[in-house]
Amino acid sequence: MPILIASLLLTVGLLGDSFITKDEYATMLYQNPRGIGCHKCHGVKGKGLELGRYQEGNRTVIIKAPDITGLSYQRFKEAIRSKKSRLMPYYFLTDKEIKTLYYYLTKKQP
Ligand code: HEC
Repeated sequence: MPILIASLLLTVGLLGDSFITKDEYATMLYQNPRGIGCHKCHGVKGKGLELGRYQEGNRTVIIKAPDITGLSYQRFKEAIRSKKSRLMPYYFLTDKEIKTLYYYLTKKQP
């Protein structure tokens, strides 16, 4: 019991100087990255969403934002830094913020 209380106090002490946890911060950043939230296109858990579809002759074209949960950090970062996409907006994110978003998408989901 004393050990439990001690470790509890230690945890509170360590997190004491920040108002939100790392997980809360990561979720907030994902949904509000100074621009349209990633979740609006990639879904709350990053598993991808259908953005729309249209008919081209007798073919249905489906526009999707892909699953972004299984990427390497390198690929993830390059995609965010790239200005090539006509669908995904360009974001002004720091390296640390990109790391946080990557953490959010690759951490074990509850
Ligand atoms: C308006 C919709 C939209 C929003 C908002 C958006 N994306 Fe995307 N994203 C896409 C689409 C569509 C693609 C597929 C490739 C392309 O067309 O650029 C993509 C591709 C990606 C890729 C590359 C996937 C791969 O397989 O290489 C990553 C990583 C990514 N998005 C991360 C993000 C993150 C992180 C955010 C928030 C900061 C975000 N996206 C916001 C639509 C969006």
